[in-house]
Amino acid sequence: MVRIGIVCCVWLLGVFNGAMAETPAERGDYLVNTIMACGNCHSPRDASGKTIAEKAFSGGLTFNTPAFVATAPNITPDIETGIGSWSDAEIERALVEGMRPDHGDFAGVPLAAIMPANFYKALLPDDLDAVVAYLRTIKPVRNEVTAPVYKAPVHRDPYPAAETGFSKTMFADPVGRGAYLVTIGHCMECHTAWSRGVSDFKTGLGRGGRVFPAPDGTPGATAANITSDSTSGIGAWSDAEIGRAVAHGVARDGHALRPPMAYTYYAALKPSDLADIIAYLRTVPPLQ
Ligand code: HEC
Ligand code: HEC
Repeated sequence: MVRIGIVCCVWLLGVFNGAMAETPAERGDYLVNTIMACGNCHSPRDASGKTIAEKAFSGGLTFNTPAFVATAPNITPDIETGIGSWSDAEIERALVEGMRPDHGDFAGVPLAAIMPANFYKALLPDDLDAVVAYLRTIKPVRNEVTAPVYKAPVHRDPYPAAETGFSKTMFADPVGRGAYLVTIGHCMECHTAWSRGVSDFKTGLGRGGRVFPAPDGTPGATAANITSDSTSGIGAWSDAEIGRAVAHGVARDGHALRPPMAYTYYAALKPSDLADIIAYLRTVPPLQ
């Protein structure tokens, strides 16, 4: 009887581990298509603004700023027009340093700061490998995007949490796990006080105020204050209200929130990851 019990236990453990084991490509798929929302910039859209699934990651939005005009390139494995000829190390360098490889067009020229490498710098080595493993599995699509034009030297604001870095020991705490997700999701890039192209992470973290252009180029949504302040921020919101805003794009009063936040990607976040994000947001020092 005891023996049967042990055999059963070992068998159950095996099944459990099998169900839990996630391949690097599966982990990368989850990161890229939820919290990191690469397709929000890198995938083409139809006239209604919906991502064109069969051309996913083949080149997306064009950003026209005083410092550069750059289109999010084709990051499918197409050899000629995508990143199929790049080594894993070259792709990783683009992600965490914002540097192009030393071959091809624009060899050695840094990527425009809109590519959030200052946040992706925080990626744990396993997650960085996982993102690359997933990118290798994407269907190659042939599509050449317009070359960038640079008008000023590239300037990336160091993001304090990414500079300090993360370790798995910090993940014992929901706030640590949430801080990591908020970092690799570059939430604070949009939600921090911003002036003349510089983010004030030191004294304006989470205060909001940055205005984004609407798809037609006119001024669109203003990034909200997401600090724990109970009047200007989200300190008085319930967890359910914050979760609904992040993952479903619904404001506290029920109206639909506008782009460019990647609500449709965040909708696929695991409930536990969304809960960790909320736990971290509750710790962001209040700002009016
Ligand atoms: C906020 C928009 C944005 C997000 C989010 C974003 N990117 Fe980018 N990315 C860009 C832009 C724009 C460029 C091109 C910059 C330039 O040409 O100087 C770029 C460049 C790149 C390059 C270099 C490709 C080449 O041909 O030069 C790679 C690789 C890349 N991104 C991968 C990713 C991955 C993977 C993710 C998600 C983990 C991601 N990006 C998220 C906007 C974004
Ligand atoms: C590309 C820019 C961008 C990114 C990245 C971004 N947001 Fe937002 N977010 C916005 C904008 C703009 C709004 C306001 C939309 C509106 O008012 O219609 C907003 C609204 C919100 C709101 C609703 C607040 C309110 O008062 O209505 C919350 C909560 C929020 N964001 C949290 C987050 C979190 C958490 C992340 C990262 C997982 C994130 N955002 C990433 C731009 C961004």
